[in-house]
Amino acid sequence: MSTETTAPAVQKKRILSCIQPSGIPTLGNYLGALKNWKKLADTFDGTFAVADLHAITVRQDPATFRKQINQVLALLLAIGLDPDESTIFIQSHVPAHAQLAWILNCYTQFGEMSRMTQFKDKSAAHADNVNVGLFAYPVLMAADILLYQADLVPVGADQKQHLEIARDIANRFNTIYSPTFTIPEPYIGKQGARVMSLQAPNKKMSKSDPNPKGYISVFDEPNVIVKKIKSAVTDCDGKVFYGEGKDGINNLMGIYSCCTGLDYDRIAHDFDGKGYGEFKAAVADAVVEELRPVRERFAQYIADKGYLEEVAAKGAARAARVADRTLMKVMKKVGFVLPK
Ligand code: TRP
Repeated sequence: MSTETTAPAVQKKRILSCIQPSGIPTLGNYLGALKNWKKLADTFDGTFAVADLHAITVRQDPATFRKQINQVLALLLAIGLDPDESTIFIQSHVPAHAQLAWILNCYTQFGEMSRMTQFKDKSAAHADNVNVGLFAYPVLMAADILLYQADLVPVGADQKQHLEIARDIANRFNTIYSPTFTIPEPYIGKQGARVMSLQAPNKKMSKSDPNPKGYISVFDEPNVIVKKIKSAVTDCDGKVFYGEGKDGINNLMGIYSCCTGLDYDRIAHDFDGKGYGEFKAAVADAVVEELRPVRERFAQYIADKGYLEEVAAKGAARAARVADRTLMKVMKKVGFVLPK
């Protein structure tokens, strides 16, 4: 008999996030979230999905929608996620999401959902289509998270309230029955930049900005990036430093800092005595270099439809193994007769 003791395998924490295929992600999405996913995937057990079910809460043009789902899947690979390491899939390919969402709807109160600020904002913005899916959106998001027993969910400020409700729903279910779901914690990473519009630097950079000069898409060509940054709104002070009333420059400094790793003092020092023109040229350069490998890899993946299909199929099968286990547990506790 061996006397050797084997150390118990340390279980990596599970991290999960999803991205909606409702437009081409911006530099803001990239620097604020996607860029970190690669690092998180190296540290944790990662699950990443294209949240296509969420996207239809606002009307999508079918051909554009289909194209964007594939683009976002290719983008997940282009940012460096490895489908052998992480679970990468398309949400609608794993039916358990819709199934658990339905069950959790019945454990979620109308009043709770009515308080969601994103629902209030979106129903104001799409007053002609305030559908039930838009209302129940956070419950589907809770299902996404809880199916995989995620320990951590990287969230931006706009999704914090949704994570909070996912925790409430999980706690409620665990209390009514018995411990079933891991209670997910928000993962607050190192300062993921909050990138603002280049034209209105008091507003978040958004892919739905009617003025394309306000945002940089991750697929913008270098000459487009240069043009957009050159025409970014600044102020008439002419000095590069982070300060009050300098939203435009502050934003460019944030972008530059995220791309180069330099801190604000260092940037102010490096550009002391130099004008905005020179600073903008440096920012544009840094952004072009930051996005270049992503754009190049994306071009390769999007051209290889067979490979994308293979990644999606393998990812969905791997995701379903975990998701179905949770769903069956839930169904059993609620009292459903389980399918044989
Ligand atoms: N609602 C998120 C967004 O718009 C996307 C999303 C869907 C998500 N399901 C999720 C994020 C689960 C984190 C976890 O950004």
